[in-house]
Amino acid sequence: MAVQLDYLAKPGWTPPNSDEDYVILWFKMELADGVGDSKFPDAAASVAAESSTGTWTVVESGPDSGMDNATDYRAIAYDLDKENHMFKVAYKAELFELDNMSGFLAGPLGNVAGMKMSKGLRVFDIRFPKKMIEKFPGPRFGISGIREIVGHNMPILGTVPKPKVGRTAQQQAILARRLWTAGDGSYDFIKDDENLTSLPFNKFEDRAKLVLAVQREIEEKYGKKKLYLCNITHSNIDVMIQRANLIKENGGRMMMIDVMTTGFAAVHTMRLKNPGLAIHAHRAMHGFITRESGPGISGEGSLNGFSVSMLTLAKIFRMLGVDSLHVGSPKSKMQDYGESEMIAKVMITEDTQPDSKFKTLGQKWFGMKKVWPVASGGLHPGVMDTVVEKLGSDIFIQLGGGVLGHPGGAEKGVEAALEARKAITDGVSFDDFISKNPNSALAEAIKHWGREPKIVY
Ligand code: 3PG
Ligand code: MG
Repeated sequence: MAVQLDYLAKPGWTPPNSDEDYVILWFKMELADGVGDSKFPDAAASVAAESSTGTWTVVESGPDSGMDNATDYRAIAYDLDKENHMFKVAYKAELFELDNMSGFLAGPLGNVAGMKMSKGLRVFDIRFPKKMIEKFPGPRFGISGIREIVGHNMPILGTVPKPKVGRTAQQQAILARRLWTAGDGSYDFIKDDENLTSLPFNKFEDRAKLVLAVQREIEEKYGKKKLYLCNITHSNIDVMIQRANLIKENGGRMMMIDVMTTGFAAVHTMRLKNPGLAIHAHRAMHGFITRESGPGISGEGSLNGFSVSMLTLAKIFRMLGVDSLHVGSPKSKMQDYGESEMIAKVMITEDTQPDSKFKTLGQKWFGMKKVWPVASGGLHPGVMDTVVEKLGSDIFIQLGGGVLGHPGGAEKGVEAALEARKAITDGVSFDDFISKNPNSALAEAIKHWGREPKIVY
């Protein structure tokens, strides 16, 4: 005997008590050539089936077939937008092992992107229920913990040394001293670039020890705490743990992990096993997963391919326990389409509201700590006011080229960034600041780069 399971909701159905019992995903689908519009509801139901308890055909039912549980735990496609081919899928939380992110993702974000019925599929957003949120550690420090360390309430400023790779460990430590002592000595952080792990001329161990020695020395001299976001990224988790231990032993407070290339299991494990460091999450490679170039990125119009929004990933990384995460930025050299604002919101709020314009579901965080958004990518002092206006002042602003490319040198770059931060904090517009301080480092930076990003080298 065979029973056809129904993976499609009756019109008007919504999951009851969803913040307690359901994971919700919001998809948009581009049907494959030859699959008519009228098939959209079946295609949406197929996503619910393949990602929960079903397969492509009706299978045997009856005693010992597991069909009773399959019926109870089946996902339901609902809220179908037949014009834009958007739909939501509700999954009962118990369909998943609640504390296993990798296992969970294999369902709703699994086989469904490979099915022939579609030529495009995007996960716009996800909303997790309390019983899943509670199973994950979340950030150890979060916004409040890092604020306590740095000891001020302004945007946190820092630099990735450029060239991306080139300096020896000794040369990087020399640069660290120059940046941390420039201006009034209040520049906050230095971050390794993603290509810099442990290289023949710049070994992780040498770099970490030398830069952290400078950090200790500067902190004593200036009485201000500094952050070195030292890159421990490795495909062997044991090596990452050794590197984290070395940072801790040398007085470091934070480590950088490239969270897409190391993966969800690595991030979760490092959150649980690291010796008390904050996690700075860099997201190199995300564009290969998150980027969609079709007009359908707004929800209307067609999709060019298959993708998962960065917003979805950001929620996952908050749960896994990063303390800061790159979110892109307005006025950046990277693609943005307003997403950085949505991501920043989901990381710095306790109860993020849904947004129908951006097709976001919102999220209640049930007390999980907040994550620092990191604005980075082609930023310079002349755009910092927009960055803070759009993303808020609980933010890391990273200026790589935007400090080291200052016509007056790196120290002037730091000065310009500190002047920009002061102007923003005092509510003084950059135009006013420049007219009163025409020879300032900020005036020179703006003369050099203007107020917009440069998108081609
Ligand atoms: C980063 O890792 O955040 C980048 O290297 C940014 O560099 P940029 O500020 O020069 O664009
Ligand atoms: Mg980089």
